[in-house]
Amino acid sequence: MGALTTEHLLNIEDLNVEDIHTVLDTALSFKEVNERTIKKLPTLRGRTVINLFLEPSTRTRTSFEIAAKRLSADAINMSPAASATVKGESLVDTAKTLDAMDCDLLVIRHRYAGAPYIMSQNMRAHIINGGDGKHQHPTQALLDLFTIRERFGGFEGLKVGIVGDIAHSRVFGSLAPALKLLGASVTAIAPATLLPARPDLLGAGYIHDLDEVLGHLDVVYLLRIQKERIDQAPFPSLREYARLYGINRDRLGRMKKDAILMHPGPVNRGVELTFEAVDTAANLLLYQVNAGVAVRMALMYLLLGGDRDGTLA
Ligand code: CP
Repeated sequence: MGALTTEHLLNIEDLNVEDIHTVLDTALSFKEVNERTIKKLPTLRGRTVINLFLEPSTRTRTSFEIAAKRLSADAINMSPAASATVKGESLVDTAKTLDAMDCDLLVIRHRYAGAPYIMSQNMRAHIINGGDGKHQHPTQALLDLFTIRERFGGFEGLKVGIVGDIAHSRVFGSLAPALKLLGASVTAIAPATLLPARPDLLGAGYIHDLDEVLGHLDVVYLLRIQKERIDQAPFPSLREYARLYGINRDRLGRMKKDAILMHPGPVNRGVELTFEAVDTAANLLLYQVNAGVAVRMALMYLLLGGDRDGTLA
C-alpha cells in the first residue's frame, strides 16, 4: 500500500478523512513548486501516465497532462478520435491493450458510470476517475476542497449550497459526500426536475428556493446545466432558470460578506452566472483551475508511491 489507503481513485469514497487531508497537504507543497520559474521535479521519471479522455475536457485533461509532465512522467494523451474505441474496440480490450504496454497510471474520462472500475479490473496500473457519466468526478471534488480549505481554514460547520443541475452532476456526486464527511452541511438547491430521487443518500438536504437560503451560505457552488445528459427540458426556458437560480448583481449583494462563489467550469455565461457575476468571481474560479494542477500532481505522486507526510522526493 502506498501513501494513501487506496490504490485507485475511482470514487471519492475511496479516500478517508486522513487521505483527503494528505492529498490537500501534498497539493499545497506542489502549489508552491508551481509558483517557481522552473516547475519541474524528477519525482516520477520513468513512469508512464496515460490520459484516456473519451469525453470532451479542457481543465481536467490539460491539468493531468501538465501534472504528469511537471513530475517528469511520460504522459500520453488519447482522445476518442485517436483511440480504437471508434473502431468498436471494447473498454475491456482497450484496458488489456494499455496494460500490455506497462502503463503505471491511467486517467479515464468516459460517458458511462463505472468505466474507471472496469479499467481497474483489467489493468495493473493505478486508475484515476477523470469523470464518469453523471456518477463521480473525484479530482474536481478534491480541488474544490483544496480551494475551500485555503479560504476558510477547514470544513467543520461550513454551510455549502450546491445550486443547479444536481440530477446530472458528477461534480455533486463527489463533492457532496466529501463535504459531509469533513463536517460541512450541504444543501442541494434546484427545481424538482433537476434533483435526484434521494439527494440525502449523497449527504445533502435540499430546497427549491435559492433566495430562502442564499444569505446563510458560506459557499455558493453553481453547477452547469448538463445539456448533453438531458433528454427532456427540465424547465420552461434558460431565461426562466436564470431568473430563479442564476447569480446576478442582486443575489451577489445578498450573499454573506465572506461567502464565496464557486463553479467547476465550463460556465454558461448568462445562465448559472451573469457576465458580471462571472467577472466578480473570476479570481476564485481561476484559483480552482490553478489548484487542479497541484491536486492532480499530489494524487499522482501519492498513488505512485510518495510519502504519507507529503514530503516531496
Ligand atoms: N470541471 C471540468 O471537469 O472541466 P472540463 O470538462 O473542462 O475538464
